[in-house]
Amino acid sequence: MKAALLVESLTGNTWKAAEMIAGHLQQEGWSITGLSPLRQPDHGALQAADLVIVGTWVHGAFIIGQAPWGIGAINALPAIGGKKAATFCTFALNPGKTLGAMEKSVAGLGADVVGGLALHRSKLAAHTEEFAARLVSALV
Ligand SMILES: Cc1cc2nc3c(=O)[nH]c(=O)nc-3n(C[C@H](O)[C@H](O)[C@H](O)COP(=O)(O)O)c2cc1C
Repeated sequence: MKAALLVESLTGNTWKAAEMIAGHLQQEGWSITGLSPLRQPDHGALQAADLVIVGTWVHGAFIIGQAPWGIGAINALPAIGGKKAATFCTFALNPGKTLGAMEKSVAGLGADVVGGLALHRSKLAAHTEEFAARLVSALV
């Protein structure tokens, strides 16, 4: 499997999570075609990928109004019809309906969204491993 990761990150957690996910997938024998900012997607990496992983962070009032930061940047990505996709977000307290909103946007790009996971920012090691394991078992 070849995966491209596209990430929005303000303070580094989501970027770090993406690097950890990429590492776990590589350990499973996957290739990573690229890890790039959501707002500056690596078009070659996207084209070469079977799976596009989109990550961002939860923005809101912590217990209400949570939403994916950079949803406009997701909506502005090039079409990825025919590819699989997965989403993740990092959060501090409660992700609310962030993943659902991300899935809708990514599906709107034409991708077949296979799943998503909210990763707690203080449990990135365990949660990125879990996410990668789920991807590997969903996409054998
Ligand atoms: C302005 C702002 C609003 C936030 N709102 C929420 C929130 O509503 N719920 C939550 O669980 N985390 C919230 N967070 C925490 C971030 O989602 C969390 O720290 C995330 O890991 C940041 O990712 P980054 O380091 O990649 O920027 C907020 C952070 C900021 C800066």
